[in-house]
Amino acid sequence: NRGRSGGMRRLVHLDMKGAAPRAAYLAEVLPLLRALGATGLLLEYEDTFPYAGPLGPLRAPHAYSPGEVRAVLSQARAQGLEVVPLVQTFGHMEFVLKHKEFAHLREVKVFPNALNPHKEESRALVKAMIDQVMALHEDVKWFHIGCDEVYYLGEGEESKQWLQQEDNTPEKLCLSHIKAVASCVASSYPAVTPIVWDDMLRGMSEETLAESGVPQLVQPMIWDYAADLDVEGKVHLIEKYRRCGFSKVWFASAFKGATGVNQSLILIGHHLKNHLQWLEVASKSPADVLEGIALTGWQRYDHFSVLCELLPVAIPSLAVCLQTLKNGGYSEKVKENVEELLGMSNLEIDTFMSTSLGTFPGSNILTLVTQVSFYLKSSVDELLERNRYVTGWFSPYHRKRKMIHPIIMHHFQPDAVSLLSKWNAVVQDLQAAMEQVFHTCTIEEWMEENVYPSLQKLQQVVDDLDEAIKAQN
Ligand SMILES: *[C@@H]1O[C@H](CO)[C@@H](O)[C@H](O)[C@H]1NC(C)=O
Repeated sequence: NRGRSGGMRRLVHLDMKGAAPRAAYLAEVLPLLRALGATGLLLEYEDTFPYAGPLGPLRAPHAYSPGEVRAVLSQARAQGLEVVPLVQTFGHMEFVLKHKEFAHLREVKVFPNALNPHKEESRALVKAMIDQVMALHEDVKWFHIGCDEVYYLGEGEESKQWLQQEDNTPEKLCLSHIKAVASCVASSYPAVTPIVWDDMLRGMSEETLAESGVPQLVQPMIWDYAADLDVEGKVHLIEKYRRCGFSKVWFASAFKGATGVNQSLILIGHHLKNHLQWLEVASKSPADVLEGIALTGWQRYDHFSVLCELLPVAIPSLAVCLQTLKNGGYSEKVKENVEELLGMSNLEIDTFMSTSLGTFPGSNILTLVTQVSFYLKSSVDELLERNRYVTGWFSPYHRKRKMIHPIIMHHFQPDAVSLLSKWNAVVQDLQAAMEQVFHTCTIEEWMEENVYPSLQKLQQVVDDLDEAIKAQN
C-alpha cells in the first residue's frame, strides 16, 4: 500500500474561477508544491484564460496574458510538474453562457449553467475553447473536459422533444454529449486522454454505460470530499466502472473549498480524514486501475457564488494532504516534514485557529485572515451589542438625533476609537499582503464580504459619536 500510494500521480487543482493568484505568486508556489509531493497541476482557468477572437468575451479583465500562461507552464515543466488543463464543456459553463453572445446556446433559456447538447454550434464552441487552450500547452497527456453537475439537462425545448423518441433517456443524452466532446479531443489530439468528473455517470446502469462507447474514450475522475467517505462504496463503484469498460480511474479529494460556501478558514483535520479515506480506497482497489488523484482546491462553488478559502490560507492543509498521500498515511514524521517545509513551528490540525507564523509564500495572509475571521466581527459585536452604555445611552434613537450623555464619552468612545484604529491597521496590513498575491478585484471582493460589514458598523458608530459630541458643544 505504501509503495503504491507513494507512486500515484498527485495533481494539485488550481481553481482560477475566483481569487486567481498573480502569475508571480504561482511562480513562488510551484517549487513548494513540488517539494511537498505534487507531481502535477490540474489547471482550471475558467474565465482567466486569454481566450481570443470570437471567444474574446469569455476573458475576464484580470485574465492571464498568453505570456503569463506560457511562463507558468514553463515553470511547472522546470519543476517536473505535469499539467492537465481543465475546460468545462457541458455543465458549469456559467462563465460562457452568461454572455449575450453565447446565451442562445443554453440548455434552458433562463439558466446559464448548462450547454444545449443538440446544437452543432455548441460543439463548435467547445472545440474552439479546447483548441485555444491546447494551443498554449505542450506535451499534454490528459485533458479534463469537466461535465459535472449538468443541472437542468433534459429540460430544454429541444431535449424535451428528443426525449419523446422511444428509448431516449436523459442518461443517453448526457453520454452522447460526453462522447461527442471526447471524440473531438481524440480526433484532434490522438495522444491526449480526456478525463470527466464522474458524478453524472455514478448512478447509470452498467449496460447504459457500456453501450454508450464512452468508457473507451474517457477516464472518470471520482470525486468525494467528505471526511467520512464510504470506502466500500467507492471500491464497488470502481469495480462497476471497470466492468463497463473504463480501464483507468482518477480520484478527486479536497484540500479546501468543500466545507462551506463562504468558508474563510480551514479545519485541516477534515481534509486529512478525506485523504486517509482515499488512501484506503486505493489500497482496496486493483493495483492497475488508479491513474492518479487530484487534490481539489475550490475557490467558489460556482461562477456566481462568494469566495471560499483563499489559496495562501489553504497551503498548510494542502501540505498535510500531499505529504499524507506521498507517505501513505499521516504520522508525527509527516507533521514534522510539513512544519519544516512551511517554516511553521506548530501546525494545528484540529482547530481553525492557526497560531504559528509560517515562512511559505503568502503566510502573512493566513495570519491576518485568521485574526480577521476570529476576532473582527466578535469584537465589534461585543462592543456595540453587549456594552450597556451603548445599548442604554447610545441607541439608534439617540444617534439619529445626536443626543449624547457625557457618560458615553467617558465609558465608550475611547474603546470604540481604539478598536477602530486597531482594525484599520490590521486591514491595511492584509490589503498590502493581498496585493502581492491577488488582483484588486479579488481584494475588493474579499474585503466586502469579510471585512466591511463589521468595520463599517464600527466606523459608523465612531462617526456618530463625533457628530453628537460636536452638536452638543
Ligand atoms: C457564512 O454565512 C453564515 C450565514 O449563512 C454566517 O453566519 C457566517 O458567519 C458566514 N461565515 C463567514 C466566514 O463569513
